Amino acid sequence: MAKFEPILSKYFNQPNSWTLQHYRSRGGHYGYETAKKAINSFEPKALVDEVKKSNLRGRGGAGFPAGVKWSFLPENGKPRYLAVNADESEPGTFKDRAIMAYDPHSLIESMICACWAIKCHHAYVFVRGEFVREIKRMQAAIDECYKAGILGENVLGLGKFKLDITVIGGAGAYICGEETGLLSAAEGRRAYPKIKPPFPAVEGYFRYPTIINNVETIACVMHIVAHGADWFRKIGPESGPGPKLFCVSGHVQKPGLYEVALGTTLREIIYDYAGGPVGNIKGIIPGGSSMPIMTPDQIDTPADFDSIRAAGSFLGSAGMIVFNDETCIVNALLNLARFYHHESCGQCTPCREGLGWLEKLCHRLEFGHGKEGDADLMNEVCVMIKGRTICFLADSLIMPVQSYIAKFRDEFEYHIKHHKCQTATEPGKFKVPEHLALAHA
Ligand SMILES: Cc1cc2nc3c(=O)[nH]c(=O)nc-3n(C[C@H](O)[C@H](O)[C@H](O)COP(=O)(O)O)c2cc1C
Ligand code: SF4
Repeated sequence: MAKFEPILSKYFNQPNSWTLQHYRSRGGHYGYETAKKAINSFEPKALVDEVKKSNLRGRGGAGFPAGVKWSFLPENGKPRYLAVNADESEPGTFKDRAIMAYDPHSLIESMICACWAIKCHHAYVFVRGEFVREIKRMQAAIDECYKAGILGENVLGLGKFKLDITVIGGAGAYICGEETGLLSAAEGRRAYPKIKPPFPAVEGYFRYPTIINNVETIACVMHIVAHGADWFRKIGPESGPGPKLFCVSGHVQKPGLYEVALGTTLREIIYDYAGGPVGNIKGIIPGGSSMPIMTPDQIDTPADFDSIRAAGSFLGSAGMIVFNDETCIVNALLNLARFYHHESCGQCTPCREGLGWLEKLCHRLEFGHGKEGDADLMNEVCVMIKGRTICFLADSLIMPVQSYIAKFRDEFEYHIKHHKCQTATEPGKFKVPEHLALAHA
């Protein structure tokens, strides 16, 4: 299979790819030439329409069309904000941090294009607190831009537009990635999500209209401006096209970050890019640990928003995790339950308590104390939680619980009946493949 020519990650492996000097030396549409084109050749509304036409869909999880979101901003004369979501806390996901670490200038150039389109004069990059290197690289790149007259009172010296960009380091909690939680944290408060509507595009940062987009979503914008919406729509399926960074981990020979066109099949990503599985595949999580699990018979599913959805899961954050047949599904679920329960912000009782019950049930199954009917009880708990919470964090555990039980019920029943696992794994332990053992040491 011919490998995809990378667009977003093209320069990731080059020395000093994060510096302005490197960025300018690339020539072509880099070096802030595309931002100049956006400001000189597009009226803001025309640029929103171009992004709408491209069908660029959000890379942060829900796949909502970016241009459509931008057009929700009310024309009420109030200041508007752009918040770039760089919280990236979904287990199995490591793409946004790579963009910030290895190509921060392309993100800034895309932000300038996006801010021109939505008439925003102050943008924020909300970065997960643990990403110390990424915070430093983003800040250094922004400082270079101010010094070079790219940002500030007179963007690129064109006399048309003012733009400031501020980096905010989060406190390192999963819930900071939920858009209203992110805004609360950016305002200096606890990252408590809020009930929607109003959506942030109408009432966001300090109650001003705010667009929140994922890092990778925004990073696509400069390429759409440079090459046009029609070019973008030809990369993958028209209903959700474009280049896509897949984060492949788990039982594969070469875990890593791979850029492909949306619509490339799971099989191609796992075999042609990630070197094939270690052992026999038991399950594939296509889009970060909160997404429903898929089974080996679905490996020829195209990895795009609509095809993965039709197959019963979601593309999510494109954090693809492969499980081989030595993986204990109950143990894997316990691991997730512990994480999502810990990350609940505690505002909603069904999430705060319900995720705890699910963790306890997984724990007793995994350690040999499961009772008849526990799998059904877990499903009932999920039904009681669903739709009764402020945000979707609770669903991040419900989806795996329901799908693991639906697809691997025999393993749950085996744990209940035999008080142990049918794989050779010790309770609570994962078997690390030999060639990956060092990375886990
Ligand atoms: C619990 C929770 C955590 C989330 N974490 C992230 C995150 O780390 N990064 C992200 O981009 N979106 C995250 N999202 C989705 C955001 O709320 C929001 O939809 C997204 O940033 C919008 O960007 P997009 O339209 O470009 O995808 C999360 C959502 C939920 C419910
Ligand atoms: S669903 Fe959970 S994380 Fe979301 S607001 Fe409610 S308690 Fe907080």
